[in-house]
Amino acid sequence: MTNPAPEILQLGYFRLGVRALDWWQNFAALVGFGQVSDAPAGELQLRTDAERDYRIAVHAAPVTGLSAVGWEVAGPRELATVGERLRVLGSGVRDASFEEKTARKVEDMIVAVDPDGLCNEIYWGPNTALRIPFQSPTGTSFESGACGNGHVTVNVADSQSTLDYYIQGLGLRLSDAAWMEGHSRVYFLRCNARHHSFAFAQMAQRPPGTVHVMADIANLDSLGEVRDRLLNAGITLSRDLGSHPLDGVVSFYVATPDGFEFELATGTRFIAEDTWASDRFLRTGRPWGHRKPLPSKDRK
Ligand SMILES: [Fe+2]
Repeated sequence: MTNPAPEILQLGYFRLGVRALDWWQNFAALVGFGQVSDAPAGELQLRTDAERDYRIAVHAAPVTGLSAVGWEVAGPRELATVGERLRVLGSGVRDASFEEKTARKVEDMIVAVDPDGLCNEIYWGPNTALRIPFQSPTGTSFESGACGNGHVTVNVADSQSTLDYYIQGLGLRLSDAAWMEGHSRVYFLRCNARHHSFAFAQMAQRPPGTVHVMADIANLDSLGEVRDRLLNAGITLSRDLGSHPLDGVVSFYVATPDGFEFELATGTRFIAEDTWASDRFLRTGRPWGHRKPLPSKDRK
């Protein structure tokens, strides 16, 4: 399997369909995301940096989970290249409408559906002309910028089809593949130095769809402060602090009311492209933590 040229520069944004928008409003405030003040009604647009309008959009929808993943390319030539590769693969791809491009504030965009129906929005020319300075309302520092912020993880029906689609079609690169808890093989794909922006597994015991999304925080103190605020507000963690040796993070997971987890993490590994294939076997981190927290009545 060959890796095509890397047209995709970053995970620009992802969009989440949710039912409990009030819960998300509160959660966003506790984490310390910035918010776009003129977002459409029924939608929260969450900022982590000044480079892009927003990184996460949360909108009311009957179907919960990822509704779209935004992948940024440099310009029209790269957009055409990715579009052509996806067409050759035989996957559904179409030009975005004027209204869709206006809604995303991008110059041009194509919309491509992956083998499990997940919508990928590939675009160039994000709205950066009137860049608004970013300051977290809670002083949270995010690890965000040219490598995007965070990642998305999904469950798929057929790993090989998904691997072909994202590597041969979109042009992502395989960073790691590992057997994880539950005997499922998890694949981690990158589009830049960030260890992965997209991960997936084929877990037969659950339907295809969103497993978790992650927001990346710049340091452990900031992550700890976010965790304190969430716990003090009675937000339920599904897995408490722990480490993931592959991408190098310390993280915890929040149980959202919409059927997927939200990971908050720090310490993401950034890969040196020319040495990765050799140094990946020399990593020494070990997994710890990520336990299910005690019910609050049992906490001392
Ligand atoms: Fe993750």
